Amino acid sequence: MNQTKRDGFTSTFGVLVATLGSAVGLGNIWKFPSLTGANGGAGFLLVYLIATLLVGLPVMIVETMLGRAARANAVSTFERVAPRGQPGWQAVGWMGFAAALLIMAFYSGVAGWVYAYIFKAISGEIATTDPKVAAAVFGSLVSNPVSSLLWQWVVLGITGSIIMMGVAKGIEAVARKLMPLLFILLLVLCARSLTLPGAMPGLTFLFSPDFSKITPAVLLTALGLAFFKLSIGMGTMLTYGSYFRDDQNIPATTTRVMLADLSVSLLAGIAIFPAVFAFGFEPAAGPSLVFMTIPAVFTAMPGGTVFMTIFFILTAIASVGAILSLLEVPVAILSERFGFGRKRASLYTILAIALLGVPAALSQSLSAEWKVFGMNPFDLFDFLSSNLLLPLGGILICVFVGWVYGFPELEKQLGNRGTLHNAWLVKTVFFLIRFVTPLSIAAVLLHGLKVF
Ligand code: PHE
Repeated sequence: MNQTKRDGFTSTFGVLVATLGSAVGLGNIWKFPSLTGANGGAGFLLVYLIATLLVGLPVMIVETMLGRAARANAVSTFERVAPRGQPGWQAVGWMGFAAALLIMAFYSGVAGWVYAYIFKAISGEIATTDPKVAAAVFGSLVSNPVSSLLWQWVVLGITGSIIMMGVAKGIEAVARKLMPLLFILLLVLCARSLTLPGAMPGLTFLFSPDFSKITPAVLLTALGLAFFKLSIGMGTMLTYGSYFRDDQNIPATTTRVMLADLSVSLLAGIAIFPAVFAFGFEPAAGPSLVFMTIPAVFTAMPGGTVFMTIFFILTAIASVGAILSLLEVPVAILSERFGFGRKRASLYTILAIALLGVPAALSQSLSAEWKVFGMNPFDLFDFLSSNLLLPLGGILICVFVGWVYGFPELEKQLGNRGTLHNAWLVKTVFFLIRFVTPLSIAAVLLHGLKVF
C-alpha cells in the first residue's frame, strides 16, 4: 500500500488533541465515578492510579509505537512487524476488533442517555436534589425499551456520519475545539460541590483509602478501568499511532494524554462525591450515579439549568471523540484489509454495533433477565471487554514488543531514529513491558477471575 496516500493527522497539536479526544470520554465522566463509588472510593482510586502508571502508560507507549512503525490497522500491523512464520500475532488485532464492537454496544447506549439528558436538562425535569426524584427520572429513561434504543441509534447515526468523512477532517476538527470548555465547566462544578454543606465526607471517601476494601475483584476492575480509560489493549492507540507523524514524540505525547485524562477523571470525582454525601445519594449506585448527582449539583447553583444543559452537550461531544476512535479500529481493518471503501466499512461497522447494541440497550427492560455468569448483556459486554479482552491484549502487546520485536527496533521507533535523546526512557519502558507490566496484568487477571 502506498503510505503517503494514507489519511493522517495534519499537525503535532492535532495528534495530541485527537488522542486526548479518544481517551477522554464517558470513561471519565460516567465510568470512573460509578466504579469508584461502587468499589469503596479511595482504595480503588489508589489502585487505579498505580495501574495507570505502571501498566497503562507503558502499554500505551508501545502500542502507539507499533501502529506508527507499521502505519497500518490493528490486524495488518502485526502482519508487517511480526517475524515471518508468526502470523498468530494478528489475533491481537482481531481481539481488538471484537473489543471495539463490544464496547460500542454499551457505550453508545450510555452516550444515548447523555443525549436524552440534554433535553431533560432543558425541560427542567432533572432540576432536583432529591435522590428519589432523580432515581425515578433515570429509571424511567433506561427501563423504557423504545427510548433506550432510539437514543442509541441517534448516537450511532451521528458518529457514523462523522467517521465516514475521514480521519483528519472528521476526528480532528471535532476533537480540537471543545475539550477546554468541558474542563472549565468541571472546575465550576467542583467549586460548587466542594462548598456544599456536608461536602467533607465525600472528600474523605475519595481520598482516604480503606485497604480492607481492595479485593482481587476490585483490583481487576481498576486495571480494566485503566485500560478502558487510556483506550489501550484493543488497537485504538495502535490505529491512532498509525496516523501519527514521524517527528511526533510518542512517549511525551502519550504521557501528556495520560495526565490530562487523569485530571479530568479526578475533577469529575471531586465534582460528584462531595455532592453524593451532601445530598444523601448512594455512592454505590452504579451506572446511574452521575446522572443523578451532576444535575443535583447544578440545581444547587444559580443559572443551574443553563449550565446543566451545556454540561450534557459537552459530555455528549466528549463521547464523540472516544466513539470515533473506537469505530476507527474496525473501520480501518475492514477498509484496508477487505478493500471496502471507507463509507461501506463504516456502514457495516455501525450495523454490527446496532445489532449487538440491542440486548445491551434493553438490559434494564426486556433483556434484564438474559444473564450469563450472573450479568445482564450490558454488564457482560463491559466485563468481557474492559476486564478480559483489553488486559489480555495488553499482555500480548507487551510480550510481542518485549520478546519478539526487541530493543533495537523499539529504540529506533521511540527515539525517532536517533533524533530524540531518550535512551534511559526507552530502557525503562523496555524493562517494564518485558517483565513488570505483563506479569502484573497476568497476576491481577488470574486472581480477579478466581483462577488462583
Ligand atoms: N477511553 C474512552 C473513555 O474513557 C473509551 C474508549 C475505550 C475509547 C477504548 C477507545 C477505546 O471514554
